[in-house]
Amino acid sequence: MRRKETLLFLSTDNTMKQKKNSNLSVFVVVFSILLFGFFMYNEDVKSIAEFPFSKQKVQEMQENKLIEEIPVRIEENPAEIEENPAKIEGKTEEVSTDTVRAEQETGEGKRKSLVFEEEDDEDDEEIEFPPKECDLFTGKWVFDNVTHPLYKEDECEFLTEQVTCIRNGRKDSTYQNWRWQPNDCNLPKFKPKLLLEKLRGKRLMFVGDSLNRNQWESMVCFVQSAVPSSRKSLVKTGSFNIFRIEDYNATVEFYWAPFLVESNSDDPKMHSILDRIIMPESIEKHGVNWKDADYLIFNTYIWWMNTFNMKVLRGSFDEGDTEYEEVERPAAYGRVLKTWSKWVDNNIDPNRTTVFFMSMSPLHIKSLDWENPDGIKCALETKPILNTSMPLNVGTDRRLFTIAHNVTQSMKVVPVSFLNITSLSEYRKEAHTSVHTIRQGKLLTAEQQADPDNFADCIHWCLPGLPDTWNEFLYTSIISTHT
Ligand SMILES: *[C@@H]1O[C@H](CO)[C@@H](O)[C@H](O)[C@H]1NC(C)=O
Ligand SMILES: *[C@@H]1O[C@H](CO)[C@@H](O)[C@H](O)[C@H]1NC(C)=O
Ligand SMILES: *[C@@H]1O[C@H](CO)[C@@H](O)[C@H](O)[C@H]1NC(C)=O
Ligand SMILES: *[C@@H]1O[C@H](CO)[C@@H](O)[C@H](O)[C@H]1NC(C)=O
Ligand SMILES: *[C@@H]1O[C@H](CO)[C@@H](O)[C@H](O)[C@H]1NC(C)=O
Ligand SMILES: *[C@@H]1O[C@H](CO)[C@@H](O)[C@H](O)[C@H]1NC(C)=O
Repeated sequence: MRRKETLLFLSTDNTMKQKKNSNLSVFVVVFSILLFGFFMYNEDVKSIAEFPFSKQKVQEMQENKLIEEIPVRIEENPAEIEENPAKIEGKTEEVSTDTVRAEQETGEGKRKSLVFEEEDDEDDEEIEFPPKECDLFTGKWVFDNVTHPLYKEDECEFLTEQVTCIRNGRKDSTYQNWRWQPNDCNLPKFKPKLLLEKLRGKRLMFVGDSLNRNQWESMVCFVQSAVPSSRKSLVKTGSFNIFRIEDYNATVEFYWAPFLVESNSDDPKMHSILDRIIMPESIEKHGVNWKDADYLIFNTYIWWMNTFNMKVLRGSFDEGDTEYEEVERPAAYGRVLKTWSKWVDNNIDPNRTTVFFMSMSPLHIKSLDWENPDGIKCALETKPILNTSMPLNVGTDRRLFTIAHNVTQSMKVVPVSFLNITSLSEYRKEAHTSVHTIRQGKLLTAEQQADPDNFADCIHWCLPGLPDTWNEFLYTSIISTHT
């Protein structure tokens, strides 16, 4: 039944706007198995995914031997394996034309849809901005190896080993060549210098988990191509990764806060924690570091997916408290985003700072989700899903999408742009790092690469690749704004 809900979101035909007015109430029963955790030491990632499926799918999964993965992973993290069937009350998904429009109009009056001359000696082409009422997130993927990738893997020295898939042995490269084409308008041509001009004297900061760091790396590559090598630097300090572009006195930063609020997983290096515990009402400790940014891009999703319930601390880490209660995931997520939105409204000056929230980045763990019985997770995929009339459910927890969308659209003081990247990213089953990445700080060995069932990372993305498109949305918004 989750499929129906998803179907609504994936429709790309032009009659969609009418359809959006109908509320859909779905009662969903979800059996949930906690699948896997993998952990990359030194930096970040311990991402665990939990997958809702029907009874029938449980069987499919067993047939597909996915369950055999569990013993392997138990070594790493016994406590994270759960087999709790759970009931979920379906949410009413409200998608009206108005909400979609409202999204586009955040920062109202600041954007324009005019044409102006770019001051760039090399090419004086005009840049055309999409009209603000255009829904950039409804469209399709088109193969375009003329304009994409926007930069080359081996020309961006700042990419980490986690994402350099070709260097790590990936043979196919067309995952770099897909361009997102909105139905009703065009994304503007990417010009790094134009972006740098906007960032002059400013701080652009990503805040969140390893997916946001994935996107930050892409953004660093975006801007660095226009800057000579001695005039840029990357420094990792505490929770910050800071990329500095000297000639523009600009920074592109990443701040590690996987739950946005305070948690026991906030150490940017040592966060391989068995019981992840959060303090949903405590954000100031992190927030104090965000106050001076001119652009803030938030996300939080993957760390919520390892257990069905969230562990919420009774008391405070500072007081040495360790007792916690378990709260259903959507309830805890709602509390966290409420804390976050209050913080933003109370601490951000909307005349200075532009705020974005990235919707969730999807996983591709089960190839039957896109009807490929011969697949192994995302590992054998070389093409996006191009048939958009195919109902698609790759297990994304849409309840959290609804909460994030609602919260960001209900802000009282600071407008927040909700970047709706979830559905369009769900089509990109081929764009994950898969076995061409690191684990526990080391490149996968040949044996591990040959065993995608156990070692494929179907959470993070190769670069150049999909996160570049997410940044094209940011780019579009930033260069379209007058400040
Ligand atoms: C998000 O984008 C998808 C298409 O990519 C669309 O179907 C859906 O309605 C959008 N959701 C919202 C809340 O704008
Ligand atoms: C682009 O793709 C076309 C069609 O697959 C191919 O013929 C061409 O050689 C490609 N060009 C580049 C530069 O990769
Ligand atoms: C550089 O940018 C920072 C903000 O990131 C600003 O506070 C500072 O005044 C700028 N310095 C110069 C020399 O423009
Ligand atoms: C933003 O600027 C407008 C007009 O200059 C002013 O009226 C408003 O008070 C400012 N808002 C804040 C939060 O400073
Ligand atoms: C797209 O998917 C739908 C539903 O699964 C199917 O009926 C249709 O034949 C597919 N179209 C193409 C071109 O494969
Ligand atoms: C949307 O958010 C507002 C303000 O945060 C809240 O009052 C309302 O109950 C929410 N609605 C839904 C459907 O979640």
